[in-house]
Amino acid sequence: MPSRPKPSSRMSSPQLSSPASPVPAPYRPGVTSAAPASSPASPPTPAPSAPLPLSALVSRLRAAGCVFAEDEAELLLTTARTPDELAAMVERRIAGLPLEHVLGWAEFHGLRIAVDPGVFVPRRRTEFLVGQAVGLGRRAGRPPSRPAVVVDLCCGSGAVGAALATAMGRVELYAADIEPAAVRCARRNIAPLGGTVYEGDLFAPLPTGLRGRIDILVANVPYVPTEEVGLLPPEAREYEPLVALDGGADGLDVLRRVTAVAAQWLAPGGHLLVETSERQAPLAVEEFTRRGLLPQVAVSDELYATVVIGTRPPTAPRPEEPKGAERTARRSARGTAGRSARTAPSPAPGTDHTTASPSP
Ligand SMILES: C[S@@+](CC[C@H](N)C(=O)[O-])C[C@H]1O[C@@H](n2cnc3c(N)ncnc32)[C@H](O)[C@@H]1O
Repeated sequence: MPSRPKPSSRMSSPQLSSPASPVPAPYRPGVTSAAPASSPASPPTPAPSAPLPLSALVSRLRAAGCVFAEDEAELLLTTARTPDELAAMVERRIAGLPLEHVLGWAEFHGLRIAVDPGVFVPRRRTEFLVGQAVGLGRRAGRPPSRPAVVVDLCCGSGAVGAALATAMGRVELYAADIEPAAVRCARRNIAPLGGTVYEGDLFAPLPTGLRGRIDILVANVPYVPTEEVGLLPPEAREYEPLVALDGGADGLDVLRRVTAVAAQWLAPGGHLLVETSERQAPLAVEEFTRRGLLPQVAVSDELYATVVIGTRPPTAPRPEEPKGAERTARRSARGTAGRSARTAPSPAPGTDHTTASPSP
């Protein structure tokens, strides 16, 4: 099963850089935003709640089953602006909400990404997909004056697109999702970076002018097989929308729909990158090959992440001629099958394992 890490285990450090959206001023215990002292004539002011001591907060979180109670306590303390807000956040966390929904943000690829209730929480393993996309984007044979055209399909919060734009510098960035809440959230993260977010089914809402122009197409589609959704941690099952998780019978329904038309949207030499489980990767490779994309699999042992990359051949027959493209890709895939290297992806198809940091 392509299990998702528990949110509490996703948070590695409260030290973040380059917020993707403004972060509210933190509340620090002992530095409360108390109301000004009342004069005898003024109406009584409600006393601010006493700040929750750190040790008590850690104990409460631990008793509620939070494995990384100290880290979570620190994050809650540095995010809350008042003692009352802190108390409310602790209650929500103890009630089982994902930490990122309680905080209102998630750390992703060194960014602080806004994550609204009901929006998929970006997973740390997806940083591997970002690293692969950045590497391919840098190696593309564009003239230096032309920014890469990057599309984040099934964007959720827009974390992947925001990370790509930040890491790659000058890009033309577009994103899309079918869920209105995700689209609103992605706009908060992506608009400040100059990106545009569309609402609708896969490619349907994108401007037609993007056809044949996309250099990097990332699509972290839902890929949990339907009958395994019930096995996900409650934080995912209960607080993330089903449309963000359920990938159909074998988990690859949405991936197949993306792959079916990706070659028509990619620029020659452009790349499609999707995340799958390790078990699904061979099926995804078959699908990519069938659709005329040169397949390659990259694996991070460290992040337990698998990314399938499909490249539109730079000089291949047009995507409308699948038979020729199919033969070309099959031959290429056989030529390097079983190859295992601990390097970044090469243009040749095959499987790369890497334990190196996915960051560029
Ligand atoms: C696994 S989440 C990934 C979100 C984000 N890319 C990330 O990595 O954090 C999948 C996303 O796909 C969206 N989605 C599912 N089916 C879709 C469709 N047919 N068209 C567009 N978006 C879709 C969901 O709303 C959800 O936000």
